[in-house]
Amino acid sequence: MTDDLARRARRILLANWRRGFTVPAQGLYPHQWSWDSAFIALGLRHLSPVRAQRELESLFGAQWADGRVPQIVFNPAVPADAYFPGPDFWGPGVRQPSTGLVTSGLVQPPVHALAAWEVHRADPVTSARRGFLRRLYPRLRLWHEYLLGRRDLGGDGLVCVIHPWESGLDNSPSWDEPLSRITPVAPATFVRRDLGHAGAGERPTDLDYGRYVRLAADYRDAGFADALASSAFAVEDPLTNALLSAGETALAAMAEEIGADPAPHRRRAGALTDSLVAELYDPGEGLFFARDAHTKTLLRRRTVGGLAPLVVPDLPVVEELLKTARGEHFRLGEVSPVPSYDLTAADFEGARYWRGPGWFNTGWLIWHGLRGHRHEDLAGGLRDGMLAAIRVAGFREYVDPITGAGHGSDDFSWTASVALDLLAVPAADGRAA
Ligand code: SER
Repeated sequence: MTDDLARRARRILLANWRRGFTVPAQGLYPHQWSWDSAFIALGLRHLSPVRAQRELESLFGAQWADGRVPQIVFNPAVPADAYFPGPDFWGPGVRQPSTGLVTSGLVQPPVHALAAWEVHRADPVTSARRGFLRRLYPRLRLWHEYLLGRRDLGGDGLVCVIHPWESGLDNSPSWDEPLSRITPVAPATFVRRDLGHAGAGERPTDLDYGRYVRLAADYRDAGFADALASSAFAVEDPLTNALLSAGETALAAMAEEIGADPAPHRRRAGALTDSLVAELYDPGEGLFFARDAHTKTLLRRRTVGGLAPLVVPDLPVVEELLKTARGEHFRLGEVSPVPSYDLTAADFEGARYWRGPGWFNTGWLIWHGLRGHRHEDLAGGLRDGMLAAIRVAGFREYVDPITGAGHGSDDFSWTASVALDLLAVPAADGRAA
């Protein structure tokens, strides 16, 4: 059983590999995506540590001079209209002089340092021989410096996402309120390609898309300038900031490994964690919330992003957060992977993208956090639950956390990667899964 699941996961990763990087899924996502590549590298390290290193190296090969790591690196071998918004939308202004690659100008959650450290640890000898950390560490540092230096739009020591696509949780209910102020572009001005690959009930609405396109076009037309005044949508997001804090801790470990100074990274990790807890944690709820940088108000929707700070190694509110995770809103221990949105909410939708379904990447982050905080039983239960969900639904992009039905793409790369990673550690009860 284990072997079969691992074999199927490996086959998906091999089929989705494109000479240097892995597509998230054939059809719906035919290019390289930033946070997908990081999660994919975590699984690839069990298949081929060199391939895992190359996955991250190819992504960082498209890093901008200002340090940003783009949300999407477009594959020139794929027709320009295969995905919307594609290379023609972003335009010649985003062709990177060093590589000739066209990319999106947006970013995605900074899970890369965490992934790079795990990839290194999977095979330190090969990593050292290839100079993996020596080459990647300065690029990761530049990436974090872009976020910390250019994206603290609220001035509170927290990074802002300026587009729902940047949050990774595209149509999360957390964004409904700030998005409602955005004037959508007319539907006739663009063609959604996603609906050719997934049902409309599983994807963001047309109204969401009209607003996404408006925000992306405005950012592009402003020359990708980062300022609060020119960012109609600007949100301090707990997932992004928690990953950045955990990523700084990973950078400290890398710095030690290659003889650089870890102290600045430890300081940054501590400062980020302090700001995260001071600004975005609600002790009454036992949960983190995103905050609108324009209005300075918390966006009080219970989402998986509010549990994501569990990845932070020195988080001072772990027990409080776990109480919430195990309660009626997320039912950790019973429901796997962790639902993306409050199970008790009137507008919970079990099949629609980030408005209810459980996802395997956020499940992995919570599992990783639980292990780090030595909650081995909860971690083992989540691991077994996620593997059971994959056995029922297949390697789907996301699953309905109540019915277990699979949704979105099939043969989804990070689902396969997470499965390989989970299979590499023993089951909760000590037996093989
Ligand atoms: N998640 C986005 C999409 O659905 C891209 O980042 O296309």
